[in-house]
Amino acid sequence: MAQLWGGRFTKETDELVYRFNASISFDRKLFEEDIEGSIAHVVMLEKQGILSEEEKNAIVKGLVGIREDVKSGKLEITDEYEDIHSFVEANLTARIGEAGKKLHTGRSRNDQVALDMKLYIRKEILNVAEELEGLLRTLLNVMENNKETYMPGFTHLQKAQPITLAHHMGAYFEMFRRDSLRMKDVYERMNYCPLGAGALAGTTYPLDRGYTASLLGFEGPTLNSMDSVADRDYLIEFLSALSTVMMHLSRFSEEIIIWNSNEYHFIEIDDAYSTGSSIMPQKKNPDIAELVRGKTGRVYGALVSILTVMKGIPLAYNKDLQEDKELTFDAIDTVKGCLALFTGMLKTMKFNHEVMASSAMNGFTNATDAADYLVGKGVPFRDAHGIIGQLVLYCISKNTCIEALSMEELKAISPVFEEDIYDAVSLKACVERRLTIGAPGPEAMNEVIRKYKDIVENSWLSGFIAKGNGIDGNQE
Ligand code: ARG
Repeated sequence: MAQLWGGRFTKETDELVYRFNASISFDRKLFEEDIEGSIAHVVMLEKQGILSEEEKNAIVKGLVGIREDVKSGKLEITDEYEDIHSFVEANLTARIGEAGKKLHTGRSRNDQVALDMKLYIRKEILNVAEELEGLLRTLLNVMENNKETYMPGFTHLQKAQPITLAHHMGAYFEMFRRDSLRMKDVYERMNYCPLGAGALAGTTYPLDRGYTASLLGFEGPTLNSMDSVADRDYLIEFLSALSTVMMHLSRFSEEIIIWNSNEYHFIEIDDAYSTGSSIMPQKKNPDIAELVRGKTGRVYGALVSILTVMKGIPLAYNKDLQEDKELTFDAIDTVKGCLALFTGMLKTMKFNHEVMASSAMNGFTNATDAADYLVGKGVPFRDAHGIIGQLVLYCISKNTCIEALSMEELKAISPVFEEDIYDAVSLKACVERRLTIGAPGPEAMNEVIRKYKDIVENSWLSGFIAKGNGIDGNQE
């Protein structure tokens, strides 16, 4: 048992208690962040005259060495340490001797872990945003290639009005674009540094908290030391944003599963992204979409879990907070994996243009346009609605569609119909008449695509990554 305390204890910790309490099995993920935070801390301690230059140099060198050795596999993070902080400190002291014991001056594991987690989440917010960018690019690409791919738009999963595939994909572009902006919001709100908050009440050392904050690329130091060690609402925000990403992916997956069914046959999922059945040789299943839909549950679970963990914790730090990690790590990995796979599946998917168009034609999606046609000839809308209703009923009885009826059949239902009805209810005409911004008509669509291109080319993310943040210890 390697732990950082014990002075006031007369008995060894019970083995089960030790294991129940330990976090090394999962907080090992934070090892780079722990080292980065420690480097910033000692650089500041030296600047403030709390450590000598030699001590600082020895500590930084030791920390950089530990990082290199863990990364190269020379040094293994093992369960004999209570947590990642103990692992780093014990190894540092083993490497550089006495100076290593000064690393923790003016610091508590409470502000240390709060910092590590923030550093980790900040990085992962950008990673998730990068995956979202990839998806947005793919969606834009599908849009550009499918401005005239007609298909039915649905309400109640019933064919409603004709749209284009570009329009349908654009709806998802909007959703994932908002998801991306949510990532930026969370990042900006959380980007304040808790280091220097100590256990809960700050420290008696003359720390320069603004300096460590700037070394680590934060906007500034947090302003209340109790809140600094007890706050996890940025995790709630992040998990909520991740849950929303999954909700969007799950809806999209559901549509893909429907479109991929034998009955719809709107799309064909690439062989590389489908799976077969062990018994039914004809099967090609949309497992990836189903798994994405299924994994949505575990991300929601992480959100509900952290909300529940937080709801009864008195200020300031309590060990309950250690429960913030495993589910959050799992949620992040799940979302990144789902985004990458989903994007790959979308990129390689084939859209059956003819099937989509004939589905739109055979589902009376042009009925509203037929009614509008009559309105254009002076019929009041309510009457037009009734006439087209009769027309649809007639078509159903004859197993045909509006545009296939003869002039006589049309005139028998309303004498107002003329030859120009056929053009008016063609899919192309129905879509082209929808001109307002946000509609599937070609001009509106071109304008929207221009805007989307601009969004993708001038992503907020590139600014954030170019800005860079953090301290790696090599320049100190
Ligand atoms: N493993 C702890 C956590 O994740 C680190 C902080 C421990 N602090 C303490 N006072 N025991 O929250």
